[in-house]
Amino acid sequence: MLALAVFVSGRGSNLRAVLDSPALKNLIRVNAVVGDKLYCPAFDIAKNFSIPVYSVGKKDGFISFDDLEVILKDFKIDLIVLAGFLKLIPDNFVRAFRNKIINIHPALLPSFGGSGMYGMNVHKAVFESSAQVSGASVHFVDETYDTGRIIAQRCVDISDIKSPEEIAERVLSIEHHLLPYVIEKIALGKVFVENNRVRVET
Ligand code: GAR
Repeated sequence: MLALAVFVSGRGSNLRAVLDSPALKNLIRVNAVVGDKLYCPAFDIAKNFSIPVYSVGKKDGFISFDDLEVILKDFKIDLIVLAGFLKLIPDNFVRAFRNKIINIHPALLPSFGGSGMYGMNVHKAVFESSAQVSGASVHFVDETYDTGRIIAQRCVDISDIKSPEEIAERVLSIEHHLLPYVIEKIALGKVFVENNRVRVET
């Protein structure tokens, strides 16, 4: 079983997609949910599944990334999944879990990524660019926003949409399939990094 920690900041629909995925049922176990707030709706999902939650940050009531590293290592976490987690992960934490942190981004990277490009900001930028396709990307996390190696992407036609909200809706339904798919491939040992490219075995 692959031991997962899922990092969240808000609603947690991707967390739910992972927890509800029939394909992942016998392959993974979510041992911790981590947020950058003291409360967000995703914590309720975690609690319904009896998964411990942690709030990471610098203020009172939060644990530091250094303490979180110790906790996740105690849990023998194999994979950290950023599922709507909006804070930058500190460099030493990335180094401690090199190639063991993945992120889902609601656009086709390397376009529409980087600092400030999260949630509706992404879909507004896509809408304003008049792009005719959008999609979702899952990538390894490195020291900067959205620049790590891309593992898998799916695109969706948005040539008929009338608002950024419609793009968000279409992309989100793709995310809910793409993220469990990538986690399944990692759990099955079918994701390889070769010559700076990621290969996913079918
Ligand atoms: C998702 O659309 C995810 O791709 C996005 O936040 C949303 C979280 O939704 N992440 C980013 O924008 C990261 N740059 P959820 O809480 O319902 O899973």
